[in-house]
Amino acid sequence: VQTDIPSLKDELPWPVGVAIDERETVGTGEQLVVKHYDQITAENAMKPESIQPTEGAFTFEAGDALIDSAVRNGQRVYGHTLVWHSQTPDWFFTHADGTPLTSSAADQQILRDRMRTHIETVADHYRQKYGEYGTAGNPIVAYDVVNEAIAESESDGLRRSRWFEVLGEQYLDLAFQYASQAFNGGDTDGPVQLFLNDYNTELPAKRRAMLDVVNRLLARDVPVDGLGHQFHVNLLQPVSQMKASIDAFATTGLLQAVTELDAPIDGTVSQEKLVAQGYYYADVFDMLRQYPDLFSVTLWGPYDSRSWREGAPLPFDDDLQAKPAFWGIVDRG
Ligand code: XIL
Repeated sequence: VQTDIPSLKDELPWPVGVAIDERETVGTGEQLVVKHYDQITAENAMKPESIQPTEGAFTFEAGDALIDSAVRNGQRVYGHTLVWHSQTPDWFFTHADGTPLTSSAADQQILRDRMRTHIETVADHYRQKYGEYGTAGNPIVAYDVVNEAIAESESDGLRRSRWFEVLGEQYLDLAFQYASQAFNGGDTDGPVQLFLNDYNTELPAKRRAMLDVVNRLLARDVPVDGLGHQFHVNLLQPVSQMKASIDAFATTGLLQAVTELDAPIDGTVSQEKLVAQGYYYADVFDMLRQYPDLFSVTLWGPYDSRSWREGAPLPFDDDLQAKPAFWGIVDRG
């Protein structure tokens, strides 16, 4: 880990986050993450399939190892995620005999109960282990309560996930109500900020669909605190579109976070393209610095080969050395 370069967290106006797994809780991986980031997200370890692979069998070890490292290192934790269509076991949506839940009143009750139990058990576990939310020992400051609910192709803007197919739009209300109760005791000014998170929010059609859904939630007094922009972008994605979405979402008055930023190179990685990527990162962070009130800005992975995407999308290479993308982030600060 390079010691003679600035720390990202010292160069930027908001908490800077990174998605990690157990490899970043030891050795040079941990050193890199501690030097540059003041917040972590579990890349996979706190998803439903990790935490409750079969009904009632909660497995917190993997996620807790990441939270423990954050506590050791004085970092915040951004929880990810509670209600999602992906990386969520089938049992949530099926009867014991394997038949799918339907939208009958009885099946809706089953799915509501499973959602509530999952959210409550997660919230209670971290309270028991790390202390009350908002107190010194407990690093959890936010949660992606619902992930990727929006589909601009639907007239109501909602993805036809199994959550939706069984419960309808009210599944969003329920998720935030259960989370508000479980994490914040129902206090809408509570310590854990409750986010609705999605990808492609920079694209105009998705932006409009999400804004419509969020305005409906707010009209129904659903306790949503923030909107997450994943920003899995690419070097051709106009930064002006990301900015336009932040401006559009600001009309809601909600918090905003950049939750999963990465920007891969298309095709073969070359020095020239790494430099172009550096300028792209510079433009993105130039824009983001105009929004000092962002809740946090998270990079989706510690270094290139740890990314879920091809194309060397992150600011550090596999030797944990700063790339042009890193210098792009810090240079115009
Ligand atoms: C990705 C992880 O990075 C991968 O390791 C995993 O195989 C699939 O999920 N949107 C999200 C993240 O909200 O949880 C996803 O993370 C990337 C897209």
